[in-house]
Amino acid sequence: MFGPTRVRKTAAVVTSAAAAAATVLLGAPSAAAAPQPIVGGTTTTTTTYPFVMQITDASQNQFCGGTLVSATKVVTAAHCMAGESTSSVRVVGGRTYLNGTNGTVSKVSKIWVNPDYTDATNGDDVAVLTLSTAMPYTKASYVSSADTSVYAAGATARILGWGTTSENGSSSNQLRTATVPIVADASCKSSYGSDFVQTDMVCAGYSTGGTDTCQGDSGGPLLIGGVLAGITSWGEGCAEAGYPGVYTRLTTFSNLVTAQITS
Ligand code: ARG
Repeated sequence: MFGPTRVRKTAAVVTSAAAAAATVLLGAPSAAAAPQPIVGGTTTTTTTYPFVMQITDASQNQFCGGTLVSATKVVTAAHCMAGESTSSVRVVGGRTYLNGTNGTVSKVSKIWVNPDYTDATNGDDVAVLTLSTAMPYTKASYVSSADTSVYAAGATARILGWGTTSENGSSSNQLRTATVPIVADASCKSSYGSDFVQTDMVCAGYSTGGTDTCQGDSGGPLLIGGVLAGITSWGEGCAEAGYPGVYTRLTTFSNLVTAQITS
């Protein structure tokens, strides 16, 4: 969903201040990362990442991403399910292109939304969908609650989705992917203040911006070492210097997710 970008308020002012600070630190504008084609990155396929699912409306129009974690269970963001019901949502697997008609389309028999969820900026942004039709695709492993060391600052994380390729741009017809470094919690706290809930969120992105998830990527995977470790949740704009993407810190919710998968 396109909801939980952070309320802008003074953000434009904050952002230019941050950009100015970054310029001072870097010395030269030439150090700014060129936007790689998500924002930044490259095209890929659901053959390469078979567990990446489109979450769509009943007409198969994609609005979020998700990750297949068992043949009939998909992890996504709670904010993606706002206003949705089992009859309004479909999950599409094996479809690299938004305008494709291939792959497997499943109805949803159950939507579990983390009962603590209120808003992405308050954390708890996780949901699990139960599919009516089993997906014939390789599932992703996800972190266990003990795996908290995966979020070491600087670790390489992979992001995936069909979201917009610039902050106010349009969605990508083809699945895209990029890698971004995990950001230290203290640094993310400096960016986002009290909206960064350390127990529930982890940030990823370059300090110079340029590569990030964006609108429409929500609910999709953040992988570390090929394992699902985060869920695309929110951010101030997209790919802005000083404002990394914010992802659900999945280790906090592993046990809740497992309870849904075994239910
Ligand atoms: N809330 C957005 C969505 O629903 C995801 C935004 C991610 N933003 C970012 N700067 N990483 O699709």
